[in-house]
Amino acid sequence: MATSLLSLDRVNAFYGDSHVLHDVSLNLQAGRLLALLGRNGAGKTTCISSIIGFLPSRSGSIRLDGEAIQTWSPEMICRSGVGLVPQGRRVFGSLTVRENLDVAARKGDRVQSHWTRDGIYDIFPRLKERQSQQASSLSGGEQQMLAIGRALMTNPRVLLLDEPSEGLAPQLVREVGQILTMLKTQMSIVLVEQNLGLALKVADDVALLNTGRVVFAGTRDLFEQQQAELQSHLGVE
Ligand SMILES: Nc1ncnc2c1ncn2[C@@H]1O[C@H](COP(=O)(O)OP(=O)(O)OP(=O)(O)O)[C@@H](O)[C@H]1O
Ligand SMILES: [Mg+2]
Repeated sequence: MATSLLSLDRVNAFYGDSHVLHDVSLNLQAGRLLALLGRNGAGKTTCISSIIGFLPSRSGSIRLDGEAIQTWSPEMICRSGVGLVPQGRRVFGSLTVRENLDVAARKGDRVQSHWTRDGIYDIFPRLKERQSQQASSLSGGEQQMLAIGRALMTNPRVLLLDEPSEGLAPQLVREVGQILTMLKTQMSIVLVEQNLGLALKVADDVALLNTGRVVFAGTRDLFEQQQAELQSHLGVE
């Protein structure tokens, strides 16, 4: 059986008294891309927040390489190789492009592939052209690239991306697709998406959430076979 790099086992998460994730179990295998789908409010961002430690789960376990991380701080989780591209980009607007990348750089505490600022500029030449510009003055697409670049600077082996195509023009959505295709050869990825076309193009596996519950988990092929029955759980395209 393939080993999970990242797994959630019957995770329950709450905002105050509001029970949002109900016994959520997910598996990300090494070297694969898991698309996490579901309509608005299904609990996708909450799953990501639980993984990264922003919203500690109240029960269940979250494992990275077999080690339980559900009580760890976001900083520890990030240091263990989990990178996040948050929903809505959240770049540091008052910092320049270059400063945004530099603050994320983690020096030498991991031996694997090492992303550098120049490496980021190679895949996003537009960021290089704008490296001295304040991040708040970038276009939406450029901010998304910066958010991805900033996450890569932490040298993740697991990259979590929360709706990277949200609000982008079709051409930029295609560019995000190309970047994901490239990145998935180098790391394992959880991709939250409402753009089904993009998600299914790059996904190896799919998990579908509805009101905080997993209603499908399996390979992309299996998902596509069952798509007609699952359609009601998906957002409108
Ligand atoms: N900080 C919060 N406090 C209270 N409830 C919240 C909070 N954040 C999210 N929720 C609720 O939790 C549920 C899941 O929200 P979540 O943000 O995880 O959904 P999502 O699948 O990411 O949706 P979207 O596609 O719109 O980003 C929703 O009912 C939402 O209203
Ligand atoms: Mg969300």
